[in-house]
Amino acid sequence: MGFQEVFGVLPEASAQAPGRVNLLGEHTDYQEGYVLPTPLPYLTRVEAGRAEGRVEAYSETLKELRARPLGSPPQGDFLDYLLGVVWALRQAGHPVPGARLYIRSELPMGAGLSSSAALEVAALKALRALFRLPLSDLEVALLAQKAEVDYVGVRCGIMDQMAASLGEAGKALFLDTRTLAHENLPLPPGVRVVVLDLGLGRRLAEAGYNERRQEAEEAARRLGVRSLRDVADLCLVESLPSPLDKRARHIVGENLRVLRGVEALRRGDVKAFGELMTQSHRSLSQDYEVSLPELDALVEAALEAGAHGAKLTGAGFGGAVVALVPEEHMEVFQSALHAGFPQLRIL
Ligand code: GLA
Repeated sequence: MGFQEVFGVLPEASAQAPGRVNLLGEHTDYQEGYVLPTPLPYLTRVEAGRAEGRVEAYSETLKELRARPLGSPPQGDFLDYLLGVVWALRQAGHPVPGARLYIRSELPMGAGLSSSAALEVAALKALRALFRLPLSDLEVALLAQKAEVDYVGVRCGIMDQMAASLGEAGKALFLDTRTLAHENLPLPPGVRVVVLDLGLGRRLAEAGYNERRQEAEEAARRLGVRSLRDVADLCLVESLPSPLDKRARHIVGENLRVLRGVEALRRGDVKAFGELMTQSHRSLSQDYEVSLPELDALVEAALEAGAHGAKLTGAGFGGAVVALVPEEHMEVFQSALHAGFPQLRIL
């Protein structure tokens, strides 16, 4: 199938956007903290054409054509993201009368690799080209987040959309989510960013994510700061009641780990960087309590198999693990992990 077979006309514009893994800075972006994601070599591509008063979209993965008029409420399907971006564009004053969209994606859904941000950003960039909209890549990321939060109804931070819109292959996007200042830092040569996917799906992810956000907000309120980004001294968190002390300890420590990780990248110190990733995982598991026993076991196995570091990536409660593996260990690493986890997909 292709755009022409589905819609009977040729597409007029197209764009693509990658999924991401997050190397450091997990659960910091909704407390104005630092993050360090890197785009994956797996893309979502959107071809676009004009339509009046409605959004029609075909998903090649789902083999489904869906169509709804502008102004329809979300229904819990993939079309929500596309109606969402058209809604966000129109809210921001851009004259988009409707669209036909054809979606092809190499990204697994529900693995915590930000397939939804890739879809939103690719669709926005295709619509930007189609309607010649004067939008920067940063504005695209913000509109994508607005679509997801205010239309689809998922209270995400800005990390995933920024990585999908501004990330560069082979680089990590160092982003300050308070100021949106960002820099693409080259990853050191000789190492691979490897995604380990057990196909766990995500269990109770949305409820758990929202609960963590509320706990973080409560911790900031009790500490008298605008956000936990403003807490530089780890000792301060010890005054909080449990579990707020643990939650704040993770976020404050995680911001420090991103800053240290950026220094390690600038020095080309992959060992130090890998250790920070592993510390991040332990903190996500013990203090933030968003890991699962399967993910903890996978991280330990990755380290035993020669990774410099490994951690869960994304919100947790399932999803994938990201590991930093020396090039020369790749073969041994892969066979050791396949032996321990026969159902594992290594991307
Ligand atoms: C999800 C959200 C991001 C971020 C991560 C956790 O991927 O979409 O904004 O909060 O979880 O780091």
